[in-house]
Amino acid sequence: MTHSKLPISLAPLQGYTEAAYRNAHQITFGGITEYYTPFVRYEKGGFRNKDVRDISPSHNSTSQLVPQLLASDLSKAESILALFIDNNYKRVDINLGCPFPMIAKKHNGSGILPYPDEVKDLLRVVTNHPEIEFSVKMRLGWENPDECIALAPILNDIQLKHITMHPRLGKQQYKGTVDLEGLKAFADICRHPLIYNGDIETIDDIDRIHRMFPQLAGMMIGRGLLANPALALEYKTDIILTEKEKIERVKQLHKAVYQQYEVQIEGGDAQLLNKMKTFWEYLTPLIGSKCAKRIKKANKIELYLSEINHIGLV
Ligand SMILES: Cc1cc2nc3c(=O)[nH]c(=O)nc-3n(C[C@H](O)[C@H](O)[C@H](O)COP(=O)(O)O)c2cc1C
Repeated sequence: MTHSKLPISLAPLQGYTEAAYRNAHQITFGGITEYYTPFVRYEKGGFRNKDVRDISPSHNSTSQLVPQLLASDLSKAESILALFIDNNYKRVDINLGCPFPMIAKKHNGSGILPYPDEVKDLLRVVTNHPEIEFSVKMRLGWENPDECIALAPILNDIQLKHITMHPRLGKQQYKGTVDLEGLKAFADICRHPLIYNGDIETIDDIDRIHRMFPQLAGMMIGRGLLANPALALEYKTDIILTEKEKIERVKQLHKAVYQQYEVQIEGGDAQLLNKMKTFWEYLTPLIGSKCAKRIKKANKIELYLSEINHIGLV
């Protein structure tokens, strides 16, 4: 049986998929239906400047941008939402999936999943704002996959565009495998459109998961798209880029990211160099480990840029 193609969105990754990357990706590769911002937090009565800048329309050029909030209670969620509304957003994602212990132990992200009453209170932000189209990005639970089953009635009861499920537990972080049985149990009782997220690296992976879950409304891909920025485009068009074409386009992507950070980063070349090195972290399989090592070792921006010029030439 063949299925129609699923819309692909770019998952948010703090430190990797910031505005500079998202803007550049849409121009040089594209194929993405929705770009998500990494989560915005409200802490000690304020926002981090970098988070405010990252969602600001003046720093973003992607056509479908969804800002994401991470909060442990309704009042914080309302404060972050007010920032999004001030910036004219009508579509917002709520993070119930972040597994980082520092975040989760304060009942943020997947750390809130074992507490249905707290989730219910937090999600009052959805019913309070019928003018905003919300989605939720979550895991199966923190400690065990029954947690999402217990939460299903609460989630089913509110208006959501969709739920994106990363079928791991918070306590797993990114280790182990995804739990597709856990996902199936949730899919069977979830009345919202479901987006799959987790460990997708190839078109075959997308097709395999789609065959297992024909009811899916889309896929969200993070690390797989950072490793192959053409993945969504290739899936959408059925045209597979050669390695050479891919490297050429990655260089264009890099140039477009670099030009934005060059203007944005005020701490001088050392900071720019550090930031740009993260661009290559997931690309080692494409550019080769020797090349990746040379980039990592470059201690001056001029040397770094000359290493980049050499990618794909040897
Ligand atoms: C370094 C890093 C940062 C992340 N930051 C966020 C974030 O800000 N918001 C979020 O919802 N998920 C975040 N995630 C989770 C990803 O969006 C995604 O759910 C996860 O990587 C699994 O999908 P993948 O296997 O396609 O990468 C992050 C993951 C990593 C590895």
